[in-house]
Amino acid sequence: MSVCEFRPGLEGIPAAQSSISFVDGQKGLLEYRGIRIEELASKSTFLETAYLLIWGQLPDFEELKAFEHEVRYHRRIKYRIRDMMKSFPESGHPMDALQASAAALGLFYSRRDLHNPVYIRDAVVRLVATIPTMVAAFQLMRKGNDPIRPNDGLDYSANFLYMLSEEEPDPLASRIFDVCLILHAEHTMNASTFSARVTASTLTDPYAVVASAVGTLGGPLHGGANEEVIQMLEEIGCVENVRPYIEGCLERKAKIMGFGHRVYKVKDPRATILQDLAEQLFAKFGHDKYYDIALEMEKVVEEKLANKGIYPNVDFYSGLVYGKMGIPTDLFTPIFAIARVAGWLAHWKEQLAENRIFRPTQVYNGLHEAAYIPIEQR
Ligand code: CMC
Repeated sequence: MSVCEFRPGLEGIPAAQSSISFVDGQKGLLEYRGIRIEELASKSTFLETAYLLIWGQLPDFEELKAFEHEVRYHRRIKYRIRDMMKSFPESGHPMDALQASAAALGLFYSRRDLHNPVYIRDAVVRLVATIPTMVAAFQLMRKGNDPIRPNDGLDYSANFLYMLSEEEPDPLASRIFDVCLILHAEHTMNASTFSARVTASTLTDPYAVVASAVGTLGGPLHGGANEEVIQMLEEIGCVENVRPYIEGCLERKAKIMGFGHRVYKVKDPRATILQDLAEQLFAKFGHDKYYDIALEMEKVVEEKLANKGIYPNVDFYSGLVYGKMGIPTDLFTPIFAIARVAGWLAHWKEQLAENRIFRPTQVYNGLHEAAYIPIEQR
């Protein structure tokens, strides 16, 4: 094979063959296993969508009930994990707490036959079930409270919101939260999924796969952008400040958070759905002035950057939705991880099915035959 051109960020270079999801960035189209995201957002649930992604087809009634049941009864975390989390510094970021806790699961469930369907099913159920419990537990423990036990009477999303607040959530808020999880569940070969697949290719355990993906998701150019969007809206403060803020960013060549995407050159379809969800929440629970700022930003950025294909991405409106539900800003990215664990696990399974360890090459641009200089002469 000839030496190929180096492309920073591996732009345009296929890293895998995959049948899990598809994006057409010119048309603003996203499909999971061939089903459009709009269909899933309006008709599915997160657990059904997770099943679709991980096992490749929509479950029938019995399969869905069995999966929901298994997840419901594996939500509790071990006392020793909880005790470990208790010793985390309360000032630490919840993404770091989640990465450490996901990795710690691997201490309890050691690697066995990665091709055994029972092992795979157990690992999938355990990760999908316990990640929300770990996020909620850290949130309560860092405030000095004991974590709340999962409520077996509540479905997946309602239970997560309950574990954060110890109050049964509003049904509209639970449904909207569930749709947010569907929207964030999978998105082709992004940085954290690539990270998951590289880790999976070494045949390590799925807890290490998820832990490495969580670490990758946290950065501000990836999942961490949703947190930065809210900080940006607060900094802008009012609609009048939007234009000077954007002009300032463009002058400094600073990125405007929540805008732009490697693949989408039109508005991200998930941003459109999230905007609608935000409006539903505002109609029921009251308006949010930051939404007016966001709308003005979208207008000004389109005016200035549409020629570069820069439009709102998934992270632009999600924070407004979570904020209206009273969720703290630094939990936005862990919530992204709760959803994306479905996609990572689907890619873990797909990678194992036809595995070859990742071992790319590099373009060396350093020295050769360099002299070793003794320390006293340096
Ligand atoms: N604000 C201003 N200009 C931008 C932005 C932005 N948000 N995004 C891209 N551009 C410009 C960039 O300056 C460059 O212009 P030029 O060609 O004149 O130098 C051009 O568009 C291409 O940008 P790039 O950085 O080469 O594009 P990329 O594909 O490497 O980066 C991105 C994609 C998402 C990292 C980038 O758009 C970005 O940093 N956005 C802000 C952070 C963000 O919202 N991240 C969430 C991404 S979506 C969800 C997720 O992955 O978690």
